[in-house]
Amino acid sequence: MKLAICTGGGDCPGLNPVIRAVVKYAKHRHNTEVVGIEESFNGLLTRPIRQQALTPESVADIFDRGGTILGTHNYGDTLRGADEKKHIALIKTGLKELGVECLLVVGGEGTQSMAQKLVRAGVKVIGIPKTIDNDLPGTDQTIGFSTCVDLVSDSVQRLRSTAESHDRIMIIEVMGRDSGYIALHGGIAGGAQIVLIPEINFSYDKIIAKIRKRQQEGRKYSLVVVSEGASPEGEASIYNQTFAKQKILGGIGQEVASKLRQLTAMDTRYTVLGHLQRGGAPNAVDKLLAARFAMAAVDLAIKEQFGKIVVLKGNRIASMPYESSHHFERFKIPADDELLQAAEGMGICLGR
Ligand code: F6P
Repeated sequence: MKLAICTGGGDCPGLNPVIRAVVKYAKHRHNTEVVGIEESFNGLLTRPIRQQALTPESVADIFDRGGTILGTHNYGDTLRGADEKKHIALIKTGLKELGVECLLVVGGEGTQSMAQKLVRAGVKVIGIPKTIDNDLPGTDQTIGFSTCVDLVSDSVQRLRSTAESHDRIMIIEVMGRDSGYIALHGGIAGGAQIVLIPEINFSYDKIIAKIRKRQQEGRKYSLVVVSEGASPEGEASIYNQTFAKQKILGGIGQEVASKLRQLTAMDTRYTVLGHLQRGGAPNAVDKLLAARFAMAAVDLAIKEQFGKIVVLKGNRIASMPYESSHHFERFKIPADDELLQAAEGMGICLGR
């Protein structure tokens, strides 16, 4: 059997380790070759096909490298609209030309939705979950999330010393789209007092009450983590750019800063962490998760159990059929989430 692998959607730390682990495990355990498809599914839409022969030697040194050696593609659904049928046919024939039996798709919700269409069209696919946002349904964790949370946590801690020195309110805007996992995990781990997530429309009164309470207790600074998709009660999320007809979230950090400056008369500054959250070397957790997902995905392919996505459930790797949901939607933090409860239980203000 010959396998192919592609990486789709926004890049994240851990993509290169998963490529490396797939190639090494396939070769050493199953004597199976792997070919890399470039730029998500797009590499299969052109002729010649854009591909890379991957060997244990060629991937040996990519372990610590951020990004993806295969390239990726965000925005613009390759498998939607007028070209959907044509593109599916090109992908099918492309895999055939390469002699590939199964395509391993490393991606988040957008990429896995496209992979689901391929499964329905008869392509043999195995999915591997990745995204810093941790918002893919069915898995407790995605590759990239842990490294991102490390950075957010470290950044909040760095802001703390300067906030404390100047008696300031410091606001940090983080990614996550419509899910607040990055903000919640990074905020708790970094010691923020206020965490604003898209799942809870926040009230400025509640935030100010928290800041005032801290002042009365002698703590004259406050740290606020705000997720890019968060919004105040009665208002919608803020978008600050458009690309490929897609609106891109951003700006809520600045908005919260100017509002809090106005309402509290305190010195208030904001930082947007942006794409720093997607770059850099993966941490140990992401490298280990990449290795575990890679092994499970290759084993499923070898056993010809196609049409499944490997997932983390508790502390175990499992798999779920692409057909377990009609279509993939971004997963949001449920109301009974343990960390959500823990945050409020410890006195972190979620703006409600
Ligand atoms: O999905 C990952 C993510 O990093 C989101 O958190 C963020 O909103 C988005 O991608 C940004 O994507 P891009 O860099 O393509 O604009």
